[in-house]
Amino acid sequence: MFITFEGPDGSGKTTQIRRLSAWLTLRGLNVLATREPGGTRIGDAVRAILLDHVNTELVDRAEVLLFSAARAQLVEQVIRPHLAKGGIVLSDRFADSTFAYQGYGRGLALDDLRRITIFATADIWPDLTIYLDLPVEEGLLRKQSGAMVEWNRMEEEAVAYHQRVRDGYLKLAEREPGRWLVLDGRQSVAYIEQQIRRRVASALGLAVAGVADSGVN
Ligand code: TYD
Repeated sequence: MFITFEGPDGSGKTTQIRRLSAWLTLRGLNVLATREPGGTRIGDAVRAILLDHVNTELVDRAEVLLFSAARAQLVEQVIRPHLAKGGIVLSDRFADSTFAYQGYGRGLALDDLRRITIFATADIWPDLTIYLDLPVEEGLLRKQSGAMVEWNRMEEEAVAYHQRVRDGYLKLAEREPGRWLVLDGRQSVAYIEQQIRRRVASALGLAVAGVADSGVN
């Protein structure tokens, strides 16, 4: 099973991935957590280019191709081999980030992005996408007030851009309700965790008793 996590910066994806990974691992499943852009040596080098403040001249088309190049590398080296072994892959962002940020955010044509994505991934798609939704201002505030402030190139964008990204995510989710689980990122970490467990447990046929207990493990 291939599960991706999407949402604005500061929505809590990392925390939830860590918790879900631990929970599934305790149940004897072979879980691999990764992130985009990055997750491979080459992907991490591409990530450094994408997030570096000095790269102000990076053009939109090149940006898409760099994200897609990192994705191609991650699919081939990490995701596909792990799925082939029967493992579960959790990814912090995947192709839906490209549709939301480069498509809805920057205005590139979704059809082009789909074609590029299918080429990059050899047509692998998540079985489940968990979207942690947050109002734009709240996401930006959370990121700024974090203990380790990491204000990268992608986040220096205008609030209007982030609003388009959020609206884009919601449209993507609406279009494919069977694949997306949309959760309110303002709920407590424990509550969100519980919702995620419920959905994943039912998809994997895990005992519902495992999700009925109250939260910690
Ligand atoms: P990162 O520091 O990993 O942010 P986060 O913790 O929110 O995931 O930075 C990744 C940034 O790259 C983030 O702002 C979203 C953006 N992004 C795209 O614009 N397109 C993409 O295809 C991907 C994967 C990420």
